[in-house]
Amino acid sequence: MTTSARIVVTGKIPEAGLEILRTAGELWAWDSSEPIPLPVRNEQLADAEVAVTLLTDRVDDAFLDAAPRLRLVANVAVGYNNIDVAACDRRGVIVTNTPGVLTDATADLAMALVLMSTRRLGEGERLIRSGTPWQWGMFMMLGVGLQGRQLGIVGMGAIGEALARRARAFGMTVVYNNRRAAAPEIEADLGARLVDLPELLATSDVVSLNCPYSESTHHLIDADALALMKPSAVLVNTARGPIVDEAALVSALRSGQIAGAALDVFEREPEVDPGLVELDNVVLIPHLGSATIETRSAMAALAARNVVEVLAGREPISRVTL
Ligand code: DGY
Repeated sequence: MTTSARIVVTGKIPEAGLEILRTAGELWAWDSSEPIPLPVRNEQLADAEVAVTLLTDRVDDAFLDAAPRLRLVANVAVGYNNIDVAACDRRGVIVTNTPGVLTDATADLAMALVLMSTRRLGEGERLIRSGTPWQWGMFMMLGVGLQGRQLGIVGMGAIGEALARRARAFGMTVVYNNRRAAAPEIEADLGARLVDLPELLATSDVVSLNCPYSESTHHLIDADALALMKPSAVLVNTARGPIVDEAALVSALRSGQIAGAALDVFEREPEVDPGLVELDNVVLIPHLGSATIETRSAMAALAARNVVEVLAGREPISRVTL
């Protein structure tokens, strides 16, 4: 059902989403990979009832002030730390996100980072590209195998579970830390055991962060947490940058307190701490967790379906609640 509601898309999204949005209301979409200039965004938001946003949009009071008729913010991401949900709530603006559709892509990337860091693949790639002469050697760039090693998953949501399944296929054992224990059948299926965070950090060979970012997870991995980790352990972050105190991580990597890190997200994204860039035992990826053609299309389509539901006066498929 097409309505006369004005829908503003603040960044370039796949056609799979736009196609649905065109059937839902009067669509205006920013069509460039460059960020939308603020004056253009605010002009478009002035009479918008729906804003379809990306994780690079900060939806705060200033954004909401520019959009006095807004009823819905449909974020094209599962994470919604870019949105002040309380501010939206105070103004009666519904917020939705895109859970589920990016689980496999993100878990695949996390597993790739586990392999990249434990097998030193970034270092190997850089060696060849640098033109440095090399020859096969019995002791050249030795990594560690995953079989029998322990993966500690911080945050056992859908992505954590999907990563646990992948890790088990590689012969890893799994422990996890979460606010709530997983259902016994899921624990049994994953062979995963709930432990407290200090135990997870102290006993895991690979620590993977898969929890949402919020005030309570800000700098969850700080100098004290890093000090608990084994000197042979690596840290993988595909969740959100500010969960890790990046300055403390640089010190821990420099001093050999931990063996390595593989990061898809950064504390001051897109800025990357120069201390990380100069270290060889760090894999750095530009926030590619959900970056497959299929997944990005599915994310855009789910965000658009949320718009359709809200404009039809129904409950959205994936509403964010406070
Ligand atoms: C999300 O959806 O939150 C991801 O970080 C996007 O890749």
